[in-house]
Amino acid sequence: MVDLNGDRGRHERKSPSTSRIRNMAISSIFICAVAYGVAVLARDGLSSSQLVKPFKLPAQSVFIDPKSFAVLGGTNTTFRESSFDTFFNPTSTAPPFFQIFDPSFLSILGPNPSIREVASNATFAFAHEAPIYVAATDEVFFASNDGGLLGMSDLEHNNVVGKISLKDVDTALAANDSVINVPVTFLDLPDTIQMTNGGTGPYRSSLLLSTSGRGPRPPSIALVNPKAPHNVTVLLDNFFGRQFNSLNDIKRALHHLVSRHTHAYLFFSPYAHSYGFLIHFRPNPLLPNQVYRFDPESGAVWVVATDFDKCNGIAFTADGKTAYITDTGAAGGFLGFNQTEPATIYAFDVDARTHVFKNRRVFAYVDTGIPDGLQVDLKGNVYSGCGDGVQVWNDEGTLLGKFFSGMTTANMVFTTRGRLVILAETKIFVADIAAQGIAPISP
Ligand SMILES: *[C@@H]1O[C@H](CO)[C@@H](O)[C@H](O)[C@H]1NC(C)=O
Ligand SMILES: *[C@@H]1O[C@H](CO)[C@@H](O)[C@H](O)[C@H]1NC(C)=O
Ligand SMILES: *[C@@H]1O[C@H](CO)[C@@H](O)[C@H](O)[C@H]1NC(C)=O
Ligand SMILES: *[C@@H]1O[C@H](CO)[C@@H](O)[C@H](O)[C@H]1NC(C)=O
Ligand SMILES: *[C@@H]1O[C@H](CO)[C@@H](O)[C@H](O)[C@H]1NC(C)=O
Repeated sequence: MVDLNGDRGRHERKSPSTSRIRNMAISSIFICAVAYGVAVLARDGLSSSQLVKPFKLPAQSVFIDPKSFAVLGGTNTTFRESSFDTFFNPTSTAPPFFQIFDPSFLSILGPNPSIREVASNATFAFAHEAPIYVAATDEVFFASNDGGLLGMSDLEHNNVVGKISLKDVDTALAANDSVINVPVTFLDLPDTIQMTNGGTGPYRSSLLLSTSGRGPRPPSIALVNPKAPHNVTVLLDNFFGRQFNSLNDIKRALHHLVSRHTHAYLFFSPYAHSYGFLIHFRPNPLLPNQVYRFDPESGAVWVVATDFDKCNGIAFTADGKTAYITDTGAAGGFLGFNQTEPATIYAFDVDARTHVFKNRRVFAYVDTGIPDGLQVDLKGNVYSGCGDGVQVWNDEGTLLGKFFSGMTTANMVFTTRGRLVILAETKIFVADIAAQGIAPISP
């Protein structure tokens, strides 16, 4: 989505109230670092109730036992007042690092995880959304912030789509450079692509983008050739003649749920969504914020979920039977932050016949910022970009751990090698872990 968390968290980390929280909490934190038990605990299927035997912590990680902060009250306790301005970092560890809340996070990290900053530009939020991994060239594509803090885009200026080469990342990692900043290449795209905010694929060997539109130019779903000349085919740009609200995230889901159809549908969460309006680059929204299904073969569009404040990120399990949608209502653009509004991930069953999202239930509520982009790994764990990094839950909604970047992190993408590429506005992080993403549906 748009960067509505901004960098506020980073500035606020030095505030006296947060350091008091940290200092207070750290005295009771139970950090295990004993060199046995790890083999047992790293096995799949471990639940939190099987804690808390001593286990070996991988590099760059801290264990924060939920019991250690279940009670914080005391004479001088200062509680967090803002989910947007303060972090929960009781060990005061410098990011990036892994926060482990449940030892089953170890099976996601694997025995030898690492997380490194690989690209950075302090004055430009070049890495915001729409992460797409193109295996053929070992590149990750992404869009800069559209209309938000350090996005360098607004009503008068489009945002940009860039890419990094993971070969460059490998070369830099192998060289043991203390600071890595691989080159970012920006694509020269035609005017039909305005304010890219979502991406998935590759689909038909192309990047599949969803855009928010800009001024009178409509939001759209479009295919973009990942290679020069980056020609574009727009697949959809209206709902029966009415412009969509700013489109946000997009995913494809499996088709075999519906026997009479032979292809995958595209699902997009306005996202039909009103952020383009709320950050001043789009007119008033003309539709509810709801989730659509689109059939690129027939051109037909359906609404599959409604009743959101601001629906945003979208993801499916590998079998396509469960859908997740984030609602980022707490971030209200020019209306400001309101943490009594949703910062919530909902889960749904995807109806096998109609693909309507049914049996909506709360999946997780996040402690910092809003849950933005979503990905699901092969084992069904759910990853969301939040105000402090990537947070990870198992399929029961238990928070297992965080890839703590210490900054607003909108989205992330798995590559084929157990690697997670994390977009954090002004930085990109690469985490090498054990978990694997769901391969794109071919073609
Ligand atoms: C609370 O803070 C005051 C002032 O800094 C200090 O004198 C006192 O010892 C603190 N009390 C506790 C229980 O930490
Ligand atoms: C950061 O981005 C700005 C805006 O595109 C650009 O002018 C500047 O050269 C970039 N800085 C670095 C270090 O890449
Ligand atoms: C990088 O560091 C690792 C661990 O310290 C070391 O084993 C390796 O030889 C180093 N590689 C280079 C190219 O210096
Ligand atoms: C780009 O152009 C090539 C050559 O005409 C065509 O094969 C391809 O489908 C186009 N891609 C898109 C996304 O329009
Ligand atoms: C925050 O949202 C709640 C619930 O919608 C509303 O009652 C309240 O007035 C809002 N607060 C502000 C400051 O806008």
